[in-house]
Amino acid sequence: MCGIIGCCASSSIKDILINGLERLEYRGYDSSGISYIENGKIITYKSVGKLINLKNKTKDININSSIGIGHNRWATHGEPSLNNAHPHISNNKKISLVHNGIIENYLEIKDILLGQNTSFYGKTDTEVIVKYIEYIYKGNPLDSLLTLNKVLKGTYALCIIFLDHPNKIFFLKKGSPLLIGKGKEEIYLSSDIFSLQNYTNLFLYIKDNQYGYISNSTYQVFEDGNYINTNFEKYDSKQIVEKLTTYNSYLEKEIYESKDVIKNIITKHINDSKIDFSKYKINKVIDNIENIVLLGCGSSYHSALIGKYIFEDLCKIPSSTYIASEFPYTPIIKKTNTLYILISQSGETADLISCLPLLDDFKLGIINVKNSSLSLKMDDNFFLEAGSEISVATTKAYLGQLTFLYLLGIYIANKKQLISKEYYLSLIQELESIPNKIKQILDNHQEIKDFSNIIKDYKNVFFIGRNLDYLTCLEGSLKLKEVTYIHSEAIPSGELKHGTISLIDQDVYTIALLSSNLRNKTKSNIKEIESRKGKVFSISTNDSNYNIPSTLEIFYPLLQIVPLQLLSLYTAENKKLDIDKPRNLAKSVTVE
Ligand code: G6P
Repeated sequence: MCGIIGCCASSSIKDILINGLERLEYRGYDSSGISYIENGKIITYKSVGKLINLKNKTKDININSSIGIGHNRWATHGEPSLNNAHPHISNNKKISLVHNGIIENYLEIKDILLGQNTSFYGKTDTEVIVKYIEYIYKGNPLDSLLTLNKVLKGTYALCIIFLDHPNKIFFLKKGSPLLIGKGKEEIYLSSDIFSLQNYTNLFLYIKDNQYGYISNSTYQVFEDGNYINTNFEKYDSKQIVEKLTTYNSYLEKEIYESKDVIKNIITKHINDSKIDFSKYKINKVIDNIENIVLLGCGSSYHSALIGKYIFEDLCKIPSSTYIASEFPYTPIIKKTNTLYILISQSGETADLISCLPLLDDFKLGIINVKNSSLSLKMDDNFFLEAGSEISVATTKAYLGQLTFLYLLGIYIANKKQLISKEYYLSLIQELESIPNKIKQILDNHQEIKDFSNIIKDYKNVFFIGRNLDYLTCLEGSLKLKEVTYIHSEAIPSGELKHGTISLIDQDVYTIALLSSNLRNKTKSNIKEIESRKGKVFSISTNDSNYNIPSTLEIFYPLLQIVPLQLLSLYTAENKKLDIDKPRNLAKSVTVE
């Protein structure tokens, strides 16, 4: 989280910085700020809250500078405030920097600086970095960065301007993403390519421990004091963000794009009714896999849970799932021939990256963003090619992840001859029909819209279901709480009677998923809720409040989630919330 940008141009950098920050807002919106060099001074503007506040603050300001840095903050150390907003400035006002990451040893460094009578205006770890640079700086920024990299513990992507090097922006990277973009008469630094989509498609990803500088015509990258030869790569324009056209929010647009994401993955991997994974390295290890460990956070963890079900049901491979932030601290009994599957839309989630040192077997990423930090550390990747997902709440990437998990499960089961030829073909045929069935759900959204009008006034919602239905409840519940701020919980319907039922009364709504073959059991649980005056909205293939098309039992997660995503969207619309940027969240969580 936090987005950083820098630009050395031949004309004013104001629009580039502001437009770039607009694109980076998904990484945090607690505050934003810019610094630039003009008339021999570093000038800084900062605002608390969303970028619009900074835009308003700077809208009448004429910036004649061709060098500047910018930042969107997702607060970690220190509350969202002007003092804690980036850029952070040295006490002599000659150095300004923006930072994405967390400095773990900032208190130790701060103690050293306090011993030197350095004063601090805020509470952030980042302010400590700029003050430390000021302390060690002897006129050569590259020397300072080399030293800094040895002193700092944690993660950092830094863009820094020095008043006595007014034509350059310096950078240092470890753990957090940073890239250089090359325009015609400008060179850029940024956390991602999307922020620079209007300016260039030539990018160079900076590696950990690399540092250097950019100017408007050149750049240099170093590692451990040595110059590194690097080249720009042309980036696939598909990854470029599209503008909203007919949609009211990115969440809405992305829900509608899910069917295309699934179709694209299927089309690229199914030929003549056969799954074709021949281009993937995972092929070489599939025959030896004895167990599978799936890791993810948030929605990607929910995909992992469904993946476990698929691999155990179809492939008979013992599988386990871990929330990535828990995995390093869980006593795990290591097994041989493990396939690790790391699931992440962004490929930048720090909790997943922190698992890497523990994974000593084949690592497969199911990732949307190419060249993301995680993807570069995998033995192989399934890239979703879902295009950029802007809404903080994930929808199309979640469905893309599931599609790959289904394909892999069916592929392994067939390869190991665990399923009949007929069943293999029927699974493929049914999977191919899913995009059309999702379209039917999207076309038939009025009942969901009507229900959102009711649920918007409730403070507590439960999602119940059994087995695969329950796994979808987890994701549906997360979607609802993320974007509507309604408290919600997913409960396996059979578990309700073991405690949670004590909360049921007329003020609680329960959403019941009834697609699994255990639906009759859930129906009994609905009766128990209704007997206690609780209200229920059911989703099934027939005879429910909202009917979805039918499919094979194993594929219901691909269909059931869609009305739940729509419900969250419409409820947030009804409540007039900021749908794409829910409070306190960030799309890419690069801190543990
Ligand atoms: C954040 C987002 C969630 C997302 C999770 C994992 O918390 O708000 O929507 O599911 O990160 O992100 P990843 O990029 O690893 O899938």
